[in-house]
Amino acid sequence: MERSVYIAPSILSADFARLGEDVHRAEAAGADLIHVDVMDGHFVPNITLGPLVVRAVRRVTSLPLCVHLMISTPERYLGAFVEAGAAYLTVHPEATIHLHRTLQEIRAHGVRAGVALNPATGEEALSYVLPLVDLVLVMTVNPGFGGQVFLPEMLPKIRRVRKMLDEANSSARIAVDGGIAPDTVGAVVAAGADTLVAGSAIFNVEEGVERAVQNLRRAAVSS
Ligand code: DX5
Ligand code: ZN
Repeated sequence: MERSVYIAPSILSADFARLGEDVHRAEAAGADLIHVDVMDGHFVPNITLGPLVVRAVRRVTSLPLCVHLMISTPERYLGAFVEAGAAYLTVHPEATIHLHRTLQEIRAHGVRAGVALNPATGEEALSYVLPLVDLVLVMTVNPGFGGQVFLPEMLPKIRRVRKMLDEANSSARIAVDGGIAPDTVGAVVAAGADTLVAGSAIFNVEEGVERAVQNLRRAAVSS
């Protein structure tokens, strides 16, 4: 099934002192979603932001906010992030004992549910929850930091997830997160990804946010 590739700038690499301006730039450049990385210093070795910042970002953009919860027991905070304005909540299977229930709860809040697969986590983690999944986030780096090197060994996993979703007639999107840049976009899109999360390749490049988004889109189209 052909579908357009979404670009989801990750604000982890934005200038937090000028967050509103950076989000505006990303929206003006034609981004489709804003990806928000929430880290608790427990599930991953870094601490970032919480519902307050999500609420602030919500006020400055009309783009859907895709909140990537890299936190232990994310079920404790689903309501807070929904109230803050999340459109998608993505959790890691290792972080929640009852993944099925957590996905049900996300859906019950009226938002979309995502499952993130760490590099060492296989696609089997999705097997029994697929009907509850709107987004599969394939981590192409170990979560915790922006600016890491893309792991090409994740390409077969993207292909397997694509096959799994197609066989189940699922319309869930496949996002890739980590090291996504013009030189890695071709391979991930060819493998079946349709949503590109990129932080440093959008906010930390000399050519600026607009050009960076265009370059990613061009790389996706020509792949
Ligand atoms: C990493 C985060 C990513 C991060 C990606 O743990 O989940 O969303 O912002 O950054 P880049 O695109 O710089 O690899
Ligand atoms: Zn992320």
